[in-house]
Amino acid sequence: MQLPHFKLERYFARFEFAVDYVLCASDCESMTIDELTALEPGADGRLGEHWLGYTESQGSPALRRQICQLYDTVEADQVLVHSGAEEAIFLFMHAVLEPGDHVIVHWPCYQSLAAVASSIGCSVTRWEAREDSGWALDLDELRRHLRRSTRAIVINLPHNPTGYLMPQDQFAQVVEIARSHGITLFSDEVYRESEYTAEERLQAACDLDESAVSLGVMSKTYGLAGLRIGWVATRNAEVYRRMAALKDYTTICNSAPSECLAELALRHRERLVERNVGIILENLAWLDAFFERRSDVFVWQRPKAGPIAFPRLLIGQVEAFCERLVQQDGVLLLPGTLFDDPENHFRMGFGRKNMPAALARLEEHCDRVRLAR
Ligand SMILES: Cc1ncc(COP(=O)(O)O)c(C=O)c1O
Repeated sequence: MQLPHFKLERYFARFEFAVDYVLCASDCESMTIDELTALEPGADGRLGEHWLGYTESQGSPALRRQICQLYDTVEADQVLVHSGAEEAIFLFMHAVLEPGDHVIVHWPCYQSLAAVASSIGCSVTRWEAREDSGWALDLDELRRHLRRSTRAIVINLPHNPTGYLMPQDQFAQVVEIARSHGITLFSDEVYRESEYTAEERLQAACDLDESAVSLGVMSKTYGLAGLRIGWVATRNAEVYRRMAALKDYTTICNSAPSECLAELALRHRERLVERNVGIILENLAWLDAFFERRSDVFVWQRPKAGPIAFPRLLIGQVEAFCERLVQQDGVLLLPGTLFDDPENHFRMGFGRKNMPAALARLEEHCDRVRLAR
């Protein structure tokens, strides 16, 4: 297994904790342990009394029961809790794929969704989202990509980095294409519940089909990345069994206090969602106005869901632009080249409260370097 450097994670490792403003984060506003435990009387005491021995490898039953509330059909023993979504991606790919298998991946993507499959020796076909169609995916293209050796289809909705969200009827067709060809659908739903209206929320893939795998996490919509709690939900007993067996070689079980806090957070997830979607919507209004003022410099493809977008720089080269911005003004954007995007896009994140201040700093920078009119 030969894994390339994870470009986005290396970039964050270099800058994330050294800059004034991270204007490209994919996670929403976080909170302190005190703020979280304040959501429920007695929760701080229960955290203090929480036992710190090994936990159940699948994830604590209480947490898994709470995670089930996110789905319609899944039982607690069909949820496998991991250390973040990242561990689950790694284990899914290793559980399901063999060298020579073919995998179709929604593109551009969070690097591990394609790179782990490649490192196993699979051939990976990019199912490309295109800016000129609002980052939509073409179902006929998916059908053309299918091969006899196709073992998995990987999709990510709401999408990182474009903010695309597919209509429900199309998503149902993707699920059906995978099902009817005996292909496992791996549906990265880590930005679920950050839709701008609840009506737009897609049904989870694991509810639509009994062989599909849904990926979820505490990090993004709920803003609790530091817990490092993610999960897969699936009625596919074989995939579940294989992933659980592999987990014995990675983390064995999860952090006990994190499981306790994740369970608490999910009990109050409506409040967390309401707060963070509120922040996203306020920030979107700022972004709409900014990009309207700067339409000579940027192309703004308004995202359909979630806390991230993928605008395009019209003047100059995006890597140089991002480097100058962070060096001179301490504002971090993510050049699209980290997603192997050749077209001068960059990722913005707007799920945090300090986004308007970061945006003001970006605008001052644009004025100073005369990018703007
Ligand atoms: C689409 C997608 N999947 C998975 C992950 C990994 O999530 P975590 O860092 O919580 O493990 C990310 C993180 O950015 C992501 O954007």
